[in-house]
Amino acid sequence: MSNGCDNPDDEIMCSCSGTRRGQIRAYFLQGLDADAISRKTGALSGCGGCEWDIGEYLQALAAEAAAGKPAA
Ligand code: FES
Repeated sequence: MSNGCDNPDDEIMCSCSGTRRGQIRAYFLQGLDADAISRKTGALSGCGGCEWDIGEYLQALAAEAAAGKPAA
């Protein structure tokens, strides 16, 4: 497993809380919605600058799940 910046899971989506893409996907796959993910990680609870990115990512994950494809 790489710990370099080339792994999108390591990409920080919320710089206020340091929440990474992989954490957001993991919580999504556990069935958490944006509010619950925010409470778990602190994402979306600071400046709010990540709201659009994380919202888009959760929508993409939901669309992939609905299509029966593995979330990426
Ligand atoms: S970047 Fe997520 S709340 Fe500021």
